[in-house]
Amino acid sequence: MKTAKFWHPSMGDMQILPGSRHRAPLKKPMWIIVLVLFVCVFLICVYIYPPKSSSACYVFSSRGCQVITDWLPPVPAREYTDEEIASRAVIRDILNTPSVISKTPKIAFMFLTPGSLPFEKLWDKFFQGHEGKFSVYVHASKTKPVHVSRYFVNRDIHSDQVVWGKISMVDAERRLLAHALQDPDNQHFVLLSDSCVPLYNFDYIYSYLMYTNISFVDCFKDPGPHGNGRYSEHMLPEIEMKDFRKGAQWFSVKRQHAVIVMADHLYYSKFREYCKPGLEGKNCIADEHYLPTFFNIVDPGGIANWSITHVDWSERKWHPKSYRAQDVTYELLKNITSIDVSVHVTSDDKKEVQRWPCLWNGIQKPCYLFARKFTPETLDNLLHLFANYSTP
Ligand SMILES: *[C@@H]1O[C@H](CO)[C@@H](O)[C@H](O)[C@H]1NC(C)=O
Ligand SMILES: *[C@@H]1O[C@H](CO)[C@@H](O)[C@H](O)[C@H]1NC(C)=O
Ligand SMILES: *[C@@H]1O[C@H](CO)[C@@H](O)[C@H](O)[C@H]1NC(C)=O
Ligand SMILES: *[C@@H]1O[C@H](CO)[C@@H](O)[C@H](O)[C@H]1NC(C)=O
Repeated sequence: MKTAKFWHPSMGDMQILPGSRHRAPLKKPMWIIVLVLFVCVFLICVYIYPPKSSSACYVFSSRGCQVITDWLPPVPAREYTDEEIASRAVIRDILNTPSVISKTPKIAFMFLTPGSLPFEKLWDKFFQGHEGKFSVYVHASKTKPVHVSRYFVNRDIHSDQVVWGKISMVDAERRLLAHALQDPDNQHFVLLSDSCVPLYNFDYIYSYLMYTNISFVDCFKDPGPHGNGRYSEHMLPEIEMKDFRKGAQWFSVKRQHAVIVMADHLYYSKFREYCKPGLEGKNCIADEHYLPTFFNIVDPGGIANWSITHVDWSERKWHPKSYRAQDVTYELLKNITSIDVSVHVTSDDKKEVQRWPCLWNGIQKPCYLFARKFTPETLDNLLHLFANYSTP
């Protein structure tokens, strides 16, 4: 923004005027024309490069800058499509309607699994004594599970096949939400996998989720190949690349958010059509982008931007670390529960690390309530340690 510098009071205008080689004073009318010209160029620049990203504001006080942007015509906004206007109206209305306070609020634990759940015994221990404060739903995509805990018996929902990376994963998540929403007492909806385990006792997790009004949906901007590199322009006009986000699939959402996910057809259908492995040479994974992008567009302030389910990607392989029996110690679990900063790394060459404190109602707290991936052989260790590690 060179133009802006012309306005600095310490600089003589004459010095930089074109054609003023001999520094001879210009005649008055010429001087005014040049001045007006500079003002125009300056204003055009401010308009094209809004003051946030330019140095234009150094010239005036920031207050003066505000005044200039105020009387410039607004940067033309994109015209919304009919579907978008309808969708936004419905979503806004749901979000603005105060939620009905249930007398017996419950948390819905929604398990997304291929078949039997290896940690039912651990979950049984976790749920024991808290009847009436939770409900369980199981979506088994391959084989009918054999249940060993009374809390899981008869909790299977109608399920369908799930293919990793495909929209059928999102469909299974929506199916679980649709079933769990039928119980009006369910206030918070947690998605869990067969390899997930609880990191705290029931009371701690219940309070953590119930006494806040945000949802825990992982969401960050990744300019690299595993983020924006998966974006397709077919998603336009509703989904622009600047709104595209990435995040882990394991969410926990409040009731209003579960309802807007059910109500959404517009954004969902864009992902169903244009976010799939192998489309246009990209490997878009719908369950890693749909909800983060959706919430980023419709209610960015309503989500925490991190997932409450911990996973260890530090080995930087295709799949996260899977814990074996020998890994599961009191120290490991305490290490995971002591994390109170959420970290995201971009997938481009810069490998930019984004860190933000895990703020719960403004207070920094442990980020994670659950963890994965635990192999079935870790069950005995976990059962043995649970009473010890799960107390905050
Ligand atoms: C959550 O509640 C607080 C006060 O109770 C309010 O200030 C805040 O805006 C709410 N946040 C959301 C996302 O609804
Ligand atoms: C999550 O990120 C969005 C956009 O980056 C931001 O507006 C929002 O305030 C963040 N949420 C919280 C709870 O900080
Ligand atoms: C726990 O964290 C400490 C400090 O970061 C590390 O040195 C140790 O190896 C970790 N232990 C386990 C079991 O992960
Ligand atoms: C819990 O673990 C700590 C640390 O290893 C140990 O000192 C303590 O004795 C354990 N308590 C129980 C009840 O196992």
